Amino acid sequence: MTVSSAPGKVYLFGEHAVVYGEPAVPCAIERRATVTVDPRDDDVVRVVAEDLSLNGFAVEYSGSTDEHPDVDVPTPLVEAAMGYVDAAVDQARDAAGAPDAGFDITVESEIPLGAGLGSSAAVVVAGIDAATRALDVELSPREIADRAYQAEHEVQDGQASRADTFASAMGGAVRVEGDDCQPIDAPSLPFVVGFDGGSGDTGKLVAGVRALRDRYDFAAQTVETIGDIVREGEALLADADAEAGADPDEDLLEALGELMNFNHGLLEALGVSSRSLDSLVWAARSGDAYGAKLTGAGGGGCIVALDPTPETETALQYTPGCEDVFRAELATTGVRAED
Ligand code: MEV
Repeated sequence: MTVSSAPGKVYLFGEHAVVYGEPAVPCAIERRATVTVDPRDDDVVRVVAEDLSLNGFAVEYSGSTDEHPDVDVPTPLVEAAMGYVDAAVDQARDAAGAPDAGFDITVESEIPLGAGLGSSAAVVVAGIDAATRALDVELSPREIADRAYQAEHEVQDGQASRADTFASAMGGAVRVEGDDCQPIDAPSLPFVVGFDGGSGDTGKLVAGVRALRDRYDFAAQTVETIGDIVREGEALLADADAEAGADPDEDLLEALGELMNFNHGLLEALGVSSRSLDSLVWAARSGDAYGAKLTGAGGGGCIVALDPTPETETALQYTPGCEDVFRAELATTGVRAED
């Protein structure tokens, strides 16, 4: 039996624009998906996933990754999650040169599905690591990130950046621009996450931004401006010269917060926010957060705010429509063996 875990992430800046080659800075957070893999003697894949969302559900199926004959799929989100597990299995089979390898797989996750915290990337990254190790193949975190990206790219019909999977595999704060992916130094940013209990359809949201960008020059410029915000934010992090994990100073938090607010405004203009996400963003700001924005694809799910004090958590807890609030520590370790 092999067991691997990988973290989820929040976007400090740059989601959506990263799909078009602009830079983004996602940060891995200490909410992890854990995948347990037991090789089988036949070519069957059996998956149990009891808590892939905060509400919880169970899925069990057997069969090849092309068809799930025994499955009564409860929701589109579960169907999507199964697609990611299948894609991870295919990558592990390919890496090990074992196209007929069968597995019993258990997925456990602390990351709500489709809520902007990189649940699918974490499941794919941990799944590839556990399944390859089960077949006696050791991949580096960068190789796992690359294979996880191929898996996400396939499931999301070619509309995925390397950001979520690279952050999950490597841990810490990272910078992604096209194929260029690098870890960066970042202080221990005081992230507060608010969750509206919902989720967004990444494929549809990405397609919506693409359509706006194709139709209007000002939408294309909005995407480029998000890239400018990311470059400004990166320069702030680099100038702060903060040791990874050190407490950031107030000037840095103020400047980053201002950029997060600007970034959220542009994502809203691109049509990927929602009434509930906007209401959580405004609640965080009224709770004295330095800044707040949606994280991930949008449409519903999570916002991320910066506040070292408890005030933003309190403000969010009392906001109608806020289902969960938590402080998210930077996960300094990416994918790791748990066995
Ligand atoms: C989704 O977590 C982030 C997006 O930028 C899509 C991607 O980067 O693949 C919306």
